[in-house]
Amino acid sequence: MENTQVQALLEEMTIEEKIGQLGQLSADFFPNGQATITGPMQAQHMDLDTLYRSGSVLGISGAKQVRAIQADFLAHNRLHIPLLFMADVVHGYKTIFPIPVGMAASFDPEIVKNASAVAASESAAGGIHVTFAPMVDLVRDPRWGRVMESTGEDTYLNTVLAAASVQGFQGEAPLDEDHIAACVKHFAAYGAPEAGREYNTVDISEWRFREQYLPSYAAAIKAHALLVMTSFNTLFGVPATANQHLMRDILREELDFSGVLISDWDAIGELINHGVAGDLDHASDLALKAGVDIDMMSFAYSRYLKRAATLDAETKRLIDESVLRILELKNTLGLFEDPYRNISIERETATELSPAHLVDAQHAAEESIVLLKNAGQILPLQPGTSVFLTGPLSESNDLLGSWSWQGKSTPDNTIAAALSQRCEVKSVPGVGYHELNEKQLQDALGSAHHYDTVIACLGIPSAESGEATSMTDIRLPEEQMTLLRKLAADGKRIISIVIAGRPLDLSEVDALSDAVVFGWFPGSRGAEAIARILTGEVEPSGRLPMSFPRSVGQVPIYYNQYNTGRPLSHTPNDAENKYLSKYIDEENTPLYPFGYGLGYAQVTLQSLTIENTEMSSQKPMVAHVRLENSSNRDGRAVVQLYLHQKIGETVRPVKRLIAFEKVAVGAGETADLLFSVTEDSLRYMHTDLTNTADAGEYELLAGLSSDATQAVGFTFTQGLKEKSDD
Ligand code: IFM
Repeated sequence: MENTQVQALLEEMTIEEKIGQLGQLSADFFPNGQATITGPMQAQHMDLDTLYRSGSVLGISGAKQVRAIQADFLAHNRLHIPLLFMADVVHGYKTIFPIPVGMAASFDPEIVKNASAVAASESAAGGIHVTFAPMVDLVRDPRWGRVMESTGEDTYLNTVLAAASVQGFQGEAPLDEDHIAACVKHFAAYGAPEAGREYNTVDISEWRFREQYLPSYAAAIKAHALLVMTSFNTLFGVPATANQHLMRDILREELDFSGVLISDWDAIGELINHGVAGDLDHASDLALKAGVDIDMMSFAYSRYLKRAATLDAETKRLIDESVLRILELKNTLGLFEDPYRNISIERETATELSPAHLVDAQHAAEESIVLLKNAGQILPLQPGTSVFLTGPLSESNDLLGSWSWQGKSTPDNTIAAALSQRCEVKSVPGVGYHELNEKQLQDALGSAHHYDTVIACLGIPSAESGEATSMTDIRLPEEQMTLLRKLAADGKRIISIVIAGRPLDLSEVDALSDAVVFGWFPGSRGAEAIARILTGEVEPSGRLPMSFPRSVGQVPIYYNQYNTGRPLSHTPNDAENKYLSKYIDEENTPLYPFGYGLGYAQVTLQSLTIENTEMSSQKPMVAHVRLENSSNRDGRAVVQLYLHQKIGETVRPVKRLIAFEKVAVGAGETADLLFSVTEDSLRYMHTDLTNTADAGEYELLAGLSSDATQAVGFTFTQGLKEKSDD
């Protein structure tokens, strides 16, 4: 449709039809392929006429069902405006990839982009037009369960992966039949709730917000994400869903976002609980003024906007503005030409869990798994080794993780099954996630006794990761630790595999185990990927996108902390430096730092050199990194470049990531990498909230984790920060 036709359609619409477009309903209103109103829905003042004027629905998929609902809907909608189908297609649709924080550990934007592309093609065939992904909320607190859906603690990594994910979901414009629209969420700073408690207040300065949290949303929008979702939390004292400064000044004006802004589930209704709206009528007014186009499931718009529109010309104008954006989105998706666009039972059958998709999912898992410890080179397992498997995850297929509502595994997706293709395996789980039955435990220990090496498959169930799963204790459950302690007491060599959706306090697991492998939730082919890592068919190459604390008391702990007046002391009982910043009862480093992960090959960073010790806006700094693989295995490494600015207008982080590259280094070989550092990498948020670079002294650091060891100094001679004279 031409833009003028979209405008003409808007003009043809009654106020009821316009308001209908602004409402999003759940799948409950469309059971059995047809719009239906039953008891509880009447309480929302919903009747069939209103329902058939709705703009969108969430949580329905499947070619047959979507086609039936769309057909029924169009038959009853006066202007034949198609429904939009939205859903949470996060890390896969039927074929499940590792959870997003796991894929972040791949340090490979292509992995993330491809996972989103596969998810898009499967879900598009199943009738979905919009996914509520990617979630790009920066997070530093593993007590928050939704960390699983994030890409971790670092601003730069977040921005790179945010853009990659949007590109994967949407492909090149115009959206073709294999792609869907991305809705970046949750705007904004949803990943920073106080104390990691879900839905809690977020209170960070606008300076910090802009420096660390805003860039990932900005990157997704720059990559042309077509929708944005508001967050549940408060920011700068006002709930995001009613926050005009956030939505109008920052999102619309500064980031130039012209797409559709949708509320999170009932977030408009929650403005009453937040205590900024007296009732739903008031809440609808606040949200509309903030620029929220779609009301997901609070019914505030459908119940109150009509009256407001008759009283107030500005409300009427805002409604038109929002409806136009929604119609434009439908037009971009090509729904006016073909409301059944993309829907295809044939493609659905051909793409879902297709061999090619499973290969991609397995590859993503292999790139995401992180080897945390490997004392005495206990791994990789030698071919044909006899191994004993125990723990709740030895025979479990709970490997998909949260947000896998349509997800499927192949039946053999358990660690025991995958490993038994390669080794002689005996498996006795012994304990449940949270259950310990003395007899089963003794059976497991009795069998373990006959083996030198035991693989303990431990973890947290997927139901305890994701939304509304905040935790105060991020250690493995006591039942599993009892098993591990008893195995260690029996003198076993222990390889612990940990499956979880968040960084954990693994201090005791590390102490009791010879090797530790962190698998995240690795997805539909996760067990195969784990088995291939354990046997060395694949070189471990995942690196941590979040710091792992030694204890929950260190949280939030992240590598790119700001300088303070009292530098961090690494020693707990450092009497001479009593007044430095530290805990007195714990080491002051993370157990495993950001960017950390081991391989089997011995790859080291030999040198960091720079071509020019002076750089300017016109002349980037060119850095060379040399890697050496001193082993007889082919290796992988993630080279990480960090920046430290010596003197800033505001405090500066001790270091921050500005570039990374995952590379292969052949056995006995060296590899040379070239990085070009431009002024963009030097920019930071100043007190006047401008993002500019200062002239001055800098340090460039390179390493294979955030414990970067090699450093060189350089000068930036041309600061762009222009101060006005007055
Ligand atoms: O997309 C989600 C959001 O992240 C949390 N609340 C519900 C939405 C729709 O399922």
